[in-house]
Amino acid sequence: MKNYNRRNFLKKSTLGAVAASTLSISCQENMSKSSAGKYMGDFAAKPYDNVKAAFIGLGARGPGHLKNFSTLENTQVVGLCDLYEDNVKRESTRLKDYNKNSSNVKLYWGSENNWKTMLKETNPDIVFICTNWKNHAPMVIQTMLDGAHAFCEVPLALTTLEMWDIVNTSEHTQKHCMMMENVNYGRDELMYLNMCRKGVVGDLLHAEAAYIHELRFQMNQEERGTGSWRTNHYAEGKGNLYPTHGLGPVAQYMNIAREEDNFKTIVSYSTPALGRKSYANKNFDKDHKWNKLNYNNGDLNTSIIKTNMGRTILVQWDETSPRPYTRHNLIQGSKGTLAGFPTRVALEGGFEGISEDHHSWIQGKDLNLLYEKYDHPLYKRLNSKTKKSGHGGMDGIMMYRIVECLQKGLPLDQNVYEGCFWSAVTPLSGKSIDENGMPQEFPDFTRGKWKQTNPLNIIT
Ligand SMILES: NC(=O)c1ccc[n+]([C@@H]2O[C@H](COP(=O)([O-])OP(=O)(O)OC[C@H]3O[C@@H](n4cnc5c(N)ncnc54)[C@H](O)[C@@H]3O)[C@@H](O)[C@H]2O)c1
Repeated sequence: MKNYNRRNFLKKSTLGAVAASTLSISCQENMSKSSAGKYMGDFAAKPYDNVKAAFIGLGARGPGHLKNFSTLENTQVVGLCDLYEDNVKRESTRLKDYNKNSSNVKLYWGSENNWKTMLKETNPDIVFICTNWKNHAPMVIQTMLDGAHAFCEVPLALTTLEMWDIVNTSEHTQKHCMMMENVNYGRDELMYLNMCRKGVVGDLLHAEAAYIHELRFQMNQEERGTGSWRTNHYAEGKGNLYPTHGLGPVAQYMNIAREEDNFKTIVSYSTPALGRKSYANKNFDKDHKWNKLNYNNGDLNTSIIKTNMGRTILVQWDETSPRPYTRHNLIQGSKGTLAGFPTRVALEGGFEGISEDHHSWIQGKDLNLLYEKYDHPLYKRLNSKTKKSGHGGMDGIMMYRIVECLQKGLPLDQNVYEGCFWSAVTPLSGKSIDENGMPQEFPDFTRGKWKQTNPLNIIT
């Protein structure tokens, strides 16, 4: 098995002229322009009659994907891996109920590197990666080098260098790499995509996206589980640490990286960092590890993206402050505005007797007529099957589409470049903050080819 080692990969690839250890971001990006494998924008793999999957990471998130995948027809699970034996054994027991084809599943736990042995020994078609953020890039890259398609939790990677490595590996190996942005499959998000495509809000001007979710309680997971690693990011990280849930849907409304438009620059500022320190002081002993961290990353981050066409996207992030959950999910066009949290719609000229003009929102029960008229066909087709699958059904629709696309040999709904563009907000917002709000240019992970990539259709 080839091992993921950034230096080896770069040496073997056409990037190899310069030692990887000396690469700076700009130098890497320049070289990347001449290092293309085959472009993956509308890539479709050969169809699979039976899709064989392996799973890395069976903590809070992985088990949901395992259930949603293995309860679909013509699927098989060949390997399960986690650091902890109890996670692996619990899920292998459940798997027996979900999927009769998976009785020979191989189980791996213990060492940090057993997932590499699993990839070699089980020969999966696809690998689901649901681990902590720092492991995403090495795991997706090694997965593709070992001949499987990679499906990774959000964010896809943490640095633009890692993102370039992922793009280059996907292009050289001709393997899918999808960051699984489940929010793009929410009912409202799908309906708004449908309404944007139908021109209901006219020409798109501006969007607002967010992940505002008070998650301080995760700090109670001290040794194991999400809070045990995520808490360190509030100290070490900078900027918007979790941009993709809000951004993925609005990026697809705007056809970002697909023919019409692309992210150009970003500016960013953060508030002071107060909430985590105070939560740690209040809830843990003074010599507890959470009280030894220096929480440097501002509680609330606000960034603005300017697109190639001159549109703007406000992106916010806050996992610390006491306020209700929101992803904003707002898209404003020349003829109206669609918004989320709560779901609200305002249309110039009003809507079918419910509203007379755009000065008041259509909301609450009045939205029923809108759902009737504009619910996305994919939601209508799949909702009854997937509504219990997690996050209001979006997780099940996403998994259904992943398997459907693989079995029919279709392009996936989210390509490797979208995963990189959406995730790149983290390092670029951090850099803008370091430079007192200076605009940062997005790397063009497509090397100009986004102009020839098809917009995501309204899938029926
Ligand atoms: N899309 C969503 O709605 C959503 C929701 C929750 C979490 N997530 C994402 O899912 C990912 C996982 O988050 P989580 O909350 O499940 O974290 P978690 O800590 O509960 O689970 C991660 C698991 O990965 C395992 N792991 C870590 N390193 C490993 C290695 N080297 N080999 C094998 N296993 C390893 C850990 O043992 C752990 O069980 C994160 O990227 C998170 O952002 C997404």
